Amino acid sequence: MAIEQAIITWIHLTSAAIWVGGSLFIGAVLAPILKTMSYSLEERLQMMIRVGRRFNKIAIPSLIILIGTGIYNSYSFFNNFELLFSTSYGNLLTIKIILVMALIITYIIHVRIIRKDIEEQIMSKKMSEQQIKKLRSKIIILGEIIVIISVGILFMAALLNSSI
Ligand code: HEM
Repeated sequence: MAIEQAIITWIHLTSAAIWVGGSLFIGAVLAPILKTMSYSLEERLQMMIRVGRRFNKIAIPSLIILIGTGIYNSYSFFNNFELLFSTSYGNLLTIKIILVMALIITYIIHVRIIRKDIEEQIMSKKMSEQQIKKLRSKIIILGEIIVIISVGILFMAALLNSSI
């Protein structure tokens, strides 16, 4: 049914907006502003961790919904997996799925670095400035990779839509 398809696309698009828009906002707006504020390195890192945790409350459901509605959108391939490799639409979809898998792996590593015990170590000053700086740059690089992969996934969606 057309209306059913429209609703699925709307949910897929809204979730994509939350996921990509939210990550970009944290990286391109919040992080640079925090840097200009005169908090200590620990305080800035803790603020970012808190923002990240709060964002995860909507980001993780969005990612799960994207995968669910994405699988629904791919139903035409369910009884003919061959099409994934023999059509250009199928090839693009395969690349998109691989990018989504890379995104999930990077995201899990990113979130695992900032476990509760690590946060406590930072706040109780059990970590040296050197260790905190190293941790911070790891988190930033992974965050950047997440944004780049997400924007790449949007490009694959555009290619799928224009049926190149
Ligand atoms: C971070 C994850 C994802 C993002 C940001 C994303 C984003 C998008 C966007 C913006 C569209 C365009 C809407 C449209 O033209 O219909 C789209 C369409 C689509 N997505 Fe996703 N998506 C994600 C995950 C997935 C996954 C996991 C699958 C498959 C398992 C998938 C399958 C599809 C399909 C089949 C379409 C329809 C393309 C078309 O023919 O127009 N998506 N996606």
